[in-house]
Amino acid sequence: MKITINEVPKHNGKTVTIGCWLLQKRGSGKIQFLQLRDGTGFMQGVVVKANDENLFETAKHLTQETSMFVTGKIKEDGRSSFGYEMEVTAIEVIQAAEGYPITPKEHGPEFLLDNRHLWLRSRKQHAVMSIRNQIIKSTYDFFFDHGFKKIDTPILTASSAEGTTELFHTKYFEEDAYLSQSGQLHAEAAAMAHGKVFTFGPTFRAEKSKTRRHLIEFWMIEPEMAFYDHEDSLKLQEEYVQYLAEQVLKNCKLDLEALDRDITALEKIKAPFPRISYTDAIDFLHKEGFDDIEWGDDFGAPHETAIANHFDKPVFIVNYPKAIKSFYMKENPEDPRTVLCADLIAPEGYGEVIGGSERTSDYDMLLARIKELNMDVDTYQWYLDLRRYGSVPHSGFGLGLERTVAWLSGVKHVRETAPFPRLLNRLEP
Ligand code: 4AD
Ligand code: MG
Repeated sequence: MKITINEVPKHNGKTVTIGCWLLQKRGSGKIQFLQLRDGTGFMQGVVVKANDENLFETAKHLTQETSMFVTGKIKEDGRSSFGYEMEVTAIEVIQAAEGYPITPKEHGPEFLLDNRHLWLRSRKQHAVMSIRNQIIKSTYDFFFDHGFKKIDTPILTASSAEGTTELFHTKYFEEDAYLSQSGQLHAEAAAMAHGKVFTFGPTFRAEKSKTRRHLIEFWMIEPEMAFYDHEDSLKLQEEYVQYLAEQVLKNCKLDLEALDRDITALEKIKAPFPRISYTDAIDFLHKEGFDDIEWGDDFGAPHETAIANHFDKPVFIVNYPKAIKSFYMKENPEDPRTVLCADLIAPEGYGEVIGGSERTSDYDMLLARIKELNMDVDTYQWYLDLRRYGSVPHSGFGLGLERTVAWLSGVKHVRETAPFPRLLNRLEP
């Protein structure tokens, strides 16, 4: 009977066949231990010379990444976290792989990224993609369970949400067009039709940043909620992030183990999250000896990390200066120099994972801000319509998928969290 490795626990004591690849192999003159992978999991196959000399010879000469059908009897194995192994009785090689470039020794990141199409097969990279998949599934579960509808927003756009400096330009027949930096503006329109919506798609930033937190193409989850004020939105964000951490802890145990993730750091991700205002954060940084920053400046990675290190949970930095945030953010009635926004900063140096705000719902204020920033009013007429016809208070946020995957998996660099990352110097494979 042909099964997959994730089905093995249901077949204890039975003889089964698994289509798989050889990840690694070790052994002696008497016994060979084959590390098998089939996409659904990882398992050890054991071949004993005394049982079958021909089979032992085949096993001894198997090369890394050879594809095959392996048949044998499943038995419990208390020493491995998976809990089972196979006593191999037959091996049918499908294709013998020669000279697989990614050997078990250490390789540099550029070499691994050049071979990303193969690197995806490694135990750790498989674990990161599995955690990414869990976060995607849990995102849909969470928002559908909370009464949200998914609305797909366009990738080719005429307007920009997050400023014009990082836009990817292209032609749309005779017109100018841009790859979407964010689905937010269209999600706001959809929220006026459906109440609570989220968009989840690829977004693009022509950012000349080469850091462990920046990708050129990344995926963003952007919920938008009619009748939610800023406070309502913060509560939802806490609940969502806590849920993601819980689901990863519950469903990705073997993956977290393969990545040596410190589980206690994930267990601390429990709402409510602490909050600090931008202004207090500036004072805090001055006390910590950062004299390179003044009120009005945006935080850099070292500033965010210093603030995050002060707490043992993710922290919201609220009410940034208006001048360094996007045009659509609602002015803070208690301090008009600032806006009703928050960035959620993850612990352990992972930086900003969410940016969100209450949106300006007043037509005149929004129009004034668009003009003040010399944006093209015509392009935003449809967006202004949302304030002309039944405007309501509303809020939303964007969670960066890759940064969240990096954080929960414990990998240092976002380049390992996208299947095929797009980086400053990399469009291939
Ligand atoms: O803070 P950002 O730019 O916010 C927006 O785009 C809003 N329109 C979201 C909204 O309110 N609907 O981006 C949101 C998140 C960041 O917190 C970060 O996690 C991620 O997107 N992000 C990036 N991730 C990887 N590489 C980049 N270059 C990123 N830029 C932003
Ligand atoms: Mg931001």
